[in-house]
Amino acid sequence: MRLDHCTWPEVEARLRRHTGILLPVGSTEQHGPTGLLGTDSLTASAVADRVADHVDTLVAPVLPFGVAEHHMAFPGTLALTAETFMAAVGDTLRSLARHGFRRVLVVNGHGGNSAALKTVFATLEPALPDLRCQALNWWMGPRAKALRSTLYGAREGFHATPSEIAVTMALVPGRIHVAVLGEPGRAQSYGDASDYRAKFPDGRMASDPSLATVEDGEKLLMAAVEDVAESYLAFVAA
Ligand code: NI
Repeated sequence: MRLDHCTWPEVEARLRRHTGILLPVGSTEQHGPTGLLGTDSLTASAVADRVADHVDTLVAPVLPFGVAEHHMAFPGTLALTAETFMAAVGDTLRSLARHGFRRVLVVNGHGGNSAALKTVFATLEPALPDLRCQALNWWMGPRAKALRSTLYGAREGFHATPSEIAVTMALVPGRIHVAVLGEPGRAQSYGDASDYRAKFPDGRMASDPSLATVEDGEKLLMAAVEDVAESYLAFVAA
């Protein structure tokens, strides 16, 4: 059930029987020449919404902005500094804790948020001893990981991956057109935003999103939902 589709008495009633919630976080950033800017937010919120229905829990609205300074040389990217991101996530978690939520599973859609999420959790824990938080990247559970490897192997790459593009194809029909793409950038490291663009000229990191299909996207979504649902149930039971 979506929190933003609930009334406060409904939330109060739910809290009497269950104190867990899902919080999707994403990013608005370039995803190669064919991928949508909202890829990380669309995927994280779709996975979290479906998990919430599956296990009958609440899901908070997605935070659509992440730590994405390195993508700022591509138009449309909207980046938060790590400090702003941590403040926004921290305030959200403090709000949830004040109402009595005790377990928050963050469903993350953007790898660049991971370090900041860890820092927020470590900072909040001493101040809010009843609250426990965990973050999961939706594509890293056992089922999703195995499926990504079977479907795409090394052509999955690291950014604007065929798996995340496939999921958005399933979620936003007709917006992504398969195109034949040249070789992606394959550098091992990068510096600032302009260096990223110099090394990965079309935004992709070693990925081939032209392999993505709607059918793959539906399968990946289902796999990710099963992974995250399993983790959520274990997390709230612990
Ligand atoms: Ni992404």
